[in-house]
Amino acid sequence: MMSENKFVTVNEVGPRDGLQNQPVLVSTEGKLKLIRALVDAGVKSIEASAFVSPKAVPQMADAQDIFAGLPVDEDVAYTALIPNEKGYERAVAAGVKSLAVVLSATEAMNQNNIRMSLSEARSVCRSVVRRVADEGLESRAYIAVAFECPYEGLVAPEKVEELTEEMFASGASEVIIADTIGAASPTAVFEMFERLKQSFPIEKLSAHFHDTRAMALANTCAALHAGLRKFDSSIGGLGGCPFAPGASGNLATEDLVLMLHQCGYQTGIDVTGLRRAVSLAEELVEHSVGGRMLPWLISQDARAAKKEATSA
Ligand code: COA
Ligand code: ZN
Repeated sequence: MMSENKFVTVNEVGPRDGLQNQPVLVSTEGKLKLIRALVDAGVKSIEASAFVSPKAVPQMADAQDIFAGLPVDEDVAYTALIPNEKGYERAVAAGVKSLAVVLSATEAMNQNNIRMSLSEARSVCRSVVRRVADEGLESRAYIAVAFECPYEGLVAPEKVEELTEEMFASGASEVIIADTIGAASPTAVFEMFERLKQSFPIEKLSAHFHDTRAMALANTCAALHAGLRKFDSSIGGLGGCPFAPGASGNLATEDLVLMLHQCGYQTGIDVTGLRRAVSLAEELVEHSVGGRMLPWLISQDARAAKKEATSA
């Protein structure tokens, strides 16, 4: 029997998806400290910022400085999100080696997010992904609102498959199926990945869940059962898209990692290190953050401290 792959790649999107919607403008230094804390916890894949219009998303205005100041670690891959050709030019000039494009599955979501029609967005994403591949760089293509759109409702899986095909045909290194508003169910997620893996290599697919309806972990399990081994998550569950009404926090990295470890998967990430990153994120955004398991993690720390005090 072929042994099951037990390693799961966790791509941290807190510095981008997590922060983009925060009302407090976090300093470049603060963002870099957060990234450092994530790297120290063993995170090897981080979406560090976005080269988008600073008018559309003021929090991402310092993308260039973020990339100039990233902790240097050969084992860590940093990605930047880009919405258009201008974003591509800015990111490449800043030395970015992995670029993420966002193709929403519906007309209205593209209009609201990047002010393009679906067909324009398809053409821009195809062209950018091709340029990235020609440069020998990595590209991650998000299929956003892949299950449900806040403007148009349920999205047909056939549509997602068609857009996935288009991104791979253009040279995308990876396609991420994104539940941007956290509306997917485990059943829909399982069926989606069972369908996609018939046509595409599962190791080139990833999932991006939001926890709006408390189903992000259940959706992760469903995707794991379909064979998926790559997931996006955000430290402390920070997140929410400013252009997708109803989108709330992302799947929290600490919840994802803890669940994976308890299920016998490996991530290379240290949960105690993630706890430190959650505390730092909290300081930076000036409100409490944290996944569903945080109170339990804190209680474990308190127990360990008490044990140490009594044995000393
Ligand atoms: N980076 C920086 N500035 C950019 C840019 C980019 N990638 N793309 C466009 N701009 C600037 C233009 O230079 C122009 O500047 P000016 O007003 O000083 O002349 C201005 O933005 C408007 O340009 P235009 O091409 O008309 O863009 P738009 O107003 O139609 O907005 C986007 C389109 C894509 C730039 C904008 O909607 C955007 O950045 N969206 C990002 C959404 C996002 O991050 N969503 C969350 C992630 S999924
Ligand atoms: Zn998201």
